[in-house]
Amino acid sequence: MVEKIQQVEQDIAAAVVGSAAELEAFRIAYIGRKGKIAALFDDLKQVAPEQRRQVGQELNRLKNLAQEKFDQAQEQLANATAESADTGFDFTLPTVPNTLGTRHPLSLVRSEIIRIFERIGFNVSEGPEMEDDWHNFTALNFPENHPAREMQDTFFLSQDRDKLLRTHTSTVQVRLMEMQKPPLRSIMPGRVYRNEAISARAHMVFHQVEGLYVDKNVSFADLKQTLYYFAKEMFGPDTKVRFRPSFFPFTEPSAEIDITCLICKGEGCNICKGTGWVEIGGSGMVDPNVLENCSIDSETYSGFAFGMGIERITMLKYQIKDLRLFTENDVRFLRQFKGIL
Ligand code: PHE
Repeated sequence: MVEKIQQVEQDIAAAVVGSAAELEAFRIAYIGRKGKIAALFDDLKQVAPEQRRQVGQELNRLKNLAQEKFDQAQEQLANATAESADTGFDFTLPTVPNTLGTRHPLSLVRSEIIRIFERIGFNVSEGPEMEDDWHNFTALNFPENHPAREMQDTFFLSQDRDKLLRTHTSTVQVRLMEMQKPPLRSIMPGRVYRNEAISARAHMVFHQVEGLYVDKNVSFADLKQTLYYFAKEMFGPDTKVRFRPSFFPFTEPSAEIDITCLICKGEGCNICKGTGWVEIGGSGMVDPNVLENCSIDSETYSGFAFGMGIERITMLKYQIKDLRLFTENDVRFLRQFKGIL
């Protein structure tokens, strides 16, 4: 028995435990429940009673020896793997700077438009993007089968053409007048849809901001002054505004709104096609039929309305030449608007 113990002790001393596999083999061979030391403990029963105590002590010493060797080797191995996992990364490097995000230029301009109109008493109204024929056309005085309906390149959502994606924010005018009674002074920014081929100048999804003012004695002069004020606040004090006669079913009289070209300051360039003027939207006096459709007495009240393209205004303000940049999410483009609120 004593010889066996000595033999095992020598084996333990000689055992190589440099790798995880060798260590595991060592554990099974010596420490495990079916290992050599466990077997020796079993043999203890056969040892003469008077020697049992001493042999038992020897066995315990052997067991501790094996456990010690195992623990040491295991720790060494763990350190070695930690070192080899070192990829050369310098943990003392400063972290990536926490940079400020950028608001999308269309959001910036929409906020600015809202701020400008809020200063002269306009509040903000919103409406749904999925609309019905009444709010997009009929209430706005588009006669049935009138070519103006076709002009809008509508995306219809139902066979009977009653459900559609709104083609303009004028729908919100109708909703506001149906829900509230004058005086009304509101702007209505929002997304609109038209079935158009995507190009540098047109998109099937874009944004408008509508304005509506309904009260007693509202005149075309009020419309002009409001838009003069807006243009100067938005584009600078030298900006001039021009009204061109136009047609919309829901306004009478109607006018297209032009401002002096910001690129060439009215000299004429390729953005304004040499005219010195660029269009920013439509406007006019609310047609009495529209007021009546919304149960507003057109004998007592009058109003003006305007609608402008937010992409258009943004392109002019920041001299952006291609509308598609707004939806491409190219960070090189978006980062240029950093820090603007
Ligand atoms: N809704 C018109 C358009 O989308 C713009 C407009 C609004 C014109 C309000 C006059 C008054 O073209």
